Amino acid sequence: DVGLQEVLQEHKIILRMRCECVTEGSDETGSRTLLNTIYTDLYITEGQSEEVNTQHEVKQLERASRIQKHHDSAIRCHDIFKAFPDQDGVIRVVLTCGVAGVGKTFSVQKFTLDWAEGWENQDISVVLLLSFRELNLIRDEQHSLLSLLHVFHPTLQKIPAEQLAKCKLLFIFDGLDESRLSLDFSSSQLVSDVTQKSSVNVLLTNLIKGNLLPSALIWITTRPAAANQIPPSCVSRVTEVRGFTDTQKEEFFSRRFSDKELSIRIISYIKTCRSLHIMCGIPVFCWITATVLENMLTSEHRGELPKTMTDMYSHFLLVQKNRKNKKYHGGHETSPQELMEADREVLLKLGRLAFEHLEKGNIMFYQEDLEQCGLDVTEALVYSGVCTEIFKRESVIFQKSVYCFVHLSIQEFLAAVYMFHCFITRKSKVMKRFVGKEYRETSLEDFMEKAMKKSLSSENGHLDLFVRFLHGLTVEFNQRLLGGLLGQTENSPETIQRIITKLKEMNNDGISPNRSINIFYCLMEMNDLSFYQEIQSLLKSRKHLSVSNCSALSFMLQMSQKVLDELDLEKYNTSAGGRRRLLPAIRNCRKARLGSCMLEGAECEVVASALKSNPDLTELEISWITELADSHTKPVCEILESSITKVKDLRLFNCRLSKTSWASLFSALKSKSSHLTQLDLTGTSLGDSGVKELCGFLQTEGCTLKNMRLFSCSLSKISCDFLASALKSNRLHLTKLNLGYNDLTESDVQQLKDLVKTVDSALNHERHFKPLFCA
Ligand SMILES: *[C@@H]1O[C@H](CO)[C@@H](O)[C@H](O)[C@H]1NC(C)=O
Ligand SMILES: *[C@@H]1O[C@H](CO)[C@@H](O)[C@H](O)[C@H]1NC(C)=O
Ligand SMILES: *[C@@H]1O[C@H](CO)[C@@H](O)[C@H](O)[C@H]1NC(C)=O
Repeated sequence: DVGLQEVLQEHKIILRMRCECVTEGSDETGSRTLLNTIYTDLYITEGQSEEVNTQHEVKQLERASRIQKHHDSAIRCHDIFKAFPDQDGVIRVVLTCGVAGVGKTFSVQKFTLDWAEGWENQDISVVLLLSFRELNLIRDEQHSLLSLLHVFHPTLQKIPAEQLAKCKLLFIFDGLDESRLSLDFSSSQLVSDVTQKSSVNVLLTNLIKGNLLPSALIWITTRPAAANQIPPSCVSRVTEVRGFTDTQKEEFFSRRFSDKELSIRIISYIKTCRSLHIMCGIPVFCWITATVLENMLTSEHRGELPKTMTDMYSHFLLVQKNRKNKKYHGGHETSPQELMEADREVLLKLGRLAFEHLEKGNIMFYQEDLEQCGLDVTEALVYSGVCTEIFKRESVIFQKSVYCFVHLSIQEFLAAVYMFHCFITRKSKVMKRFVGKEYRETSLEDFMEKAMKKSLSSENGHLDLFVRFLHGLTVEFNQRLLGGLLGQTENSPETIQRIITKLKEMNNDGISPNRSINIFYCLMEMNDLSFYQEIQSLLKSRKHLSVSNCSALSFMLQMSQKVLDELDLEKYNTSAGGRRRLLPAIRNCRKARLGSCMLEGAECEVVASALKSNPDLTELEISWITELADSHTKPVCEILESSITKVKDLRLFNCRLSKTSWASLFSALKSKSSHLTQLDLTGTSLGDSGVKELCGFLQTEGCTLKNMRLFSCSLSKISCDFLASALKSNRLHLTKLNLGYNDLTESDVQQLKDLVKTVDSALNHERHFKPLFCA
């Protein structure tokens, strides 16, 4: 059909124009760059662990930065609808998650551009690119799917409904996290005709459920926290964009600067600051870092380069201001003091917007939101320079604009600046709301403590970065950088010391280990690294480590660039509570021995999560798992499953596992590839039924087990017979088997004894098999 082809061609040209250019930073001042010249493949991986959705995004980056070392399951964005050879069924709905600024929209643009230019995915006849921030603008209107498409893609009006429905369509919905629609998947309102009118959210849920255009493909991108809006049953594939790997971080800086020496200096500097290096997984953060460091290294600047996040963001603000002033005041560089006075008011209004919406979890703002904070739209916009590099307008249809900070972390930074300012200038209403009633008597220590407690009590850590910045702002150096923006500050060294002491004490108050890590980040923002020396000297003198000392140690181990060779919990002079605090450090070691640490529900969760993000683990010894309730079974299964795919040597001493957990271990052993050569199940509740399952694994092709200890596992003759027949029927690698302390008689073990010397018929060599039966 010539008419149809012509319209589709026109649509392609329009999409190509829309996608071929990108801006880094903001639209207004940022230069437009061709997508193809700067696009770096991002790591998109299939699957995503559940914990991801509930964690703060910076934590997720830390996890990702470890996993990335082993990116074997990476897929290109062009292939996300293609099934793997061993997968069956059509991949209809793909959900792609990734933290803010990690490159989800770039992936969508690259996919669309390559389709529109005829390079990839040519079996798709129409790609329909829609963003939730645009859909928000028509959220109260009634539309049919067809009329909705016409709003955003007017060219398609020339195609009749029945013809469009016959095309192979791909809907891309970018930025679910920005949606202000309420997608209700439990609603039974059925829409199956593209011309049937309904509300926008009903149309979308019907499309995603497959009631409307069941053969259309759907790609949804979102930040992790919003992913749960789409029921898993509707999703055929979940992928995760993980941002830059360590190599790609370097590529970014080398490509950015033509001055080789400069890029090398910047790269080697970043590598010395662990927390900055981790943050560089986000392309936007690389851009912030590049902007700041380039400015500092190429100017007269003499001071130290920023080490903390607060330092980096304060400098970023300053660089933007200097740029603006150069542009408008002919090269004259103003002092921080002068600058801040001039721009103070607008920045503080932006800070208020940032703070109020951070509490609510909003990152996109509309004109009404700006006005509520006293921000004149023209003021924010016309305000060239600083604001446009940190705050941007997303140009949209209907003359209605959507605004956002160029990155969530900038929103968090300005929110902290605003709150700090409110404290300094005693803004009673704001402080009352934040701190509670007794505002008048509030000292800086009280304020910081309240803020910290607030952030620690948040399940997903949405205030973590905010309080980090807040603590960073107590540092005099940063206060000087920000000049008049904060107000007249005077904090005595004693006050600062009291804040530090308070932070350290807070670590004791029954705070869960997974949240206490932010306390140390705050200490780092305050440039207080005394805990490093303190812990090191405690370790050296083999003195007793308190629970809070162990939290500090755990943080140090996790932040270390070096992978610890062995984490042996028994080697630390500490209490059971202290050992539990050390569990998260499993993330960063090769061998983990958790002897003498009893793992119950909560600990199992911590271990399961740490194991998932450890790519280097080869040995794991767990001495006590006690499954007290059914609810513990899930983390236990996760521990077993992720360890068998990683470790060579697995020891589960004295673990009293449920039938379900054993079954999951054996089924994982049979179905997943494993490097296991040693398995020690001493003192476990394995029993004859467990041995039967275990023998199933022994007979699988991939089994490379050499040494197995089933010491004291309540086994009888039945187990011996299973083992003997498994050993006979397969050329096993197994050479050692210990069945001591199982109350077995001579005749029970006769069959196994007969197997001592066997001939491997395939390899034609003798194998010496050493069974041990007595205690
Ligand atoms: C553990 O610490 C206590 C108190 O510092 C000390 O007396 C004891 O000797 C230490 N134990 C070991 C095994 O080092
Ligand atoms: C170590 O523990 C002691 C006793 O609880 C405490 O006073 C000290 O501040 C702790 N040090 C660190 C760095 O956690
Ligand atoms: C973190 O700790 C809280 C409180 O103990 C717990 O509910 C949550 O599941 C933990 N999250 C992870 C990922 O371990």
